[in-house]
Amino acid sequence: MIIDIINKKREKKELTKEELEMAFMGYLKGKIADYQMSALLMAICCNGMSEQETFDLVDIFIHGGKILDFSDLHLTLVDKHSTGGVGDKTTLILGPILASCKVPMVKICGRGLGYTGGTIDKLESIPSFQVSLNEEEIKGQLQKIGLVITSQTKDLVPLDQKIYALRDVTGTTNSIPLIASSIMSKKIVCGADKIIIDIKIGSGALIKTQEEAKQLSSLMIKIGKKYHKEVKTVFSDMDHPLGRAIGNKLEVMEAVNVLQGKEEGELYDLCIELSSQLISMAKKESLQTAERMAKEAITSGRAYQKFKEWIKTQHGKLEELKISAEQYTIKAPKKGIIKKIDALAVGKLSLALGAGRKEKNDTIDYNAGVVLVKMIGDAVKEGEVLAFLYTNRDISHLSFENIFQIE
Ligand code: URA
Repeated sequence: MIIDIINKKREKKELTKEELEMAFMGYLKGKIADYQMSALLMAICCNGMSEQETFDLVDIFIHGGKILDFSDLHLTLVDKHSTGGVGDKTTLILGPILASCKVPMVKICGRGLGYTGGTIDKLESIPSFQVSLNEEEIKGQLQKIGLVITSQTKDLVPLDQKIYALRDVTGTTNSIPLIASSIMSKKIVCGADKIIIDIKIGSGALIKTQEEAKQLSSLMIKIGKKYHKEVKTVFSDMDHPLGRAIGNKLEVMEAVNVLQGKEEGELYDLCIELSSQLISMAKKESLQTAERMAKEAITSGRAYQKFKEWIKTQHGKLEELKISAEQYTIKAPKKGIIKKIDALAVGKLSLALGAGRKEKNDTIDYNAGVVLVKMIGDAVKEGEVLAFLYTNRDISHLSFENIFQIE
């Protein structure tokens, strides 16, 4: 009985694979209710899982749907995943860099989770973009352009799709075994050979400390080994947002700027670092050569061409990507230097503006979000604009005090 399984986890006991299967596959088949799965997820969040339980859960997630097999194409497939952050649009930049360097990627992404944005929501903000592809479409696109990004579907890691949406709205996102199972099952189902995981640490991330990041890293590398995958991890800062834009359409627009070589800084640097690692792993090149290739993909315009080709192939209409919502500003209350821009506060603000979901079936306002005009280290005068806000909601009750720290 599901109630016994929930109680067992609440009492910090180890669940067997059969019990995990009964709970999770039962949920997938509609035999276990949302409220029961929410209770089990919360017990897992609070009491953790053993390594064996996590390995078992990954296996259940993988076998809950189809496993893609492109071995007949004889390609070295790469994949990248971020544990989630505020303003993290690296996938939109990285995919085209890699594909334009002839390093193919098939990637299953998710929607927003907690205060962190999701690649699928960002892609869906492009008019007509098709996020859900079947196996045949994925294979055809992989052969044609070397880059595919799809959502979880009823065939592809359907358990992750259901559990992910439930975690998003039940305060059960910050669990190392649940994050590891969610991410690694998607990587393995896609057939990636070389995988890089960007573990975000900080106020705007699911992972808050170096210690947790190390645990998650070691767990994901172990899961990778079990499935004969080469997994590397990088740790990156998420105490402040990544780049200037936070919110779906706004982030796509910023990704375009980076691909067009119009924006450098932390976002560009991280994209080059992650793509260099994957190019080096896939092509067995030195990191230095791989970095040169990644940078040239941008300066030559090839990465941007590949981006346009990819969006068009998945039926997106980039030319219709426009922001139409009303604009507000946050102004500096005093003069000084910007010492901090709090990622969590910006994540909460973008949710309040309409860029994320508070409940499972909420619809997103793709126009909504924040564009940071001033960044950490910038000098500002009193009354200068720090950020633009895009929303069609009444925001008169919102306070912006805890976002920028000026000294
Ligand atoms: N990304 C995922 O795909 N799953 C998580 O649980 C966290 C980030």
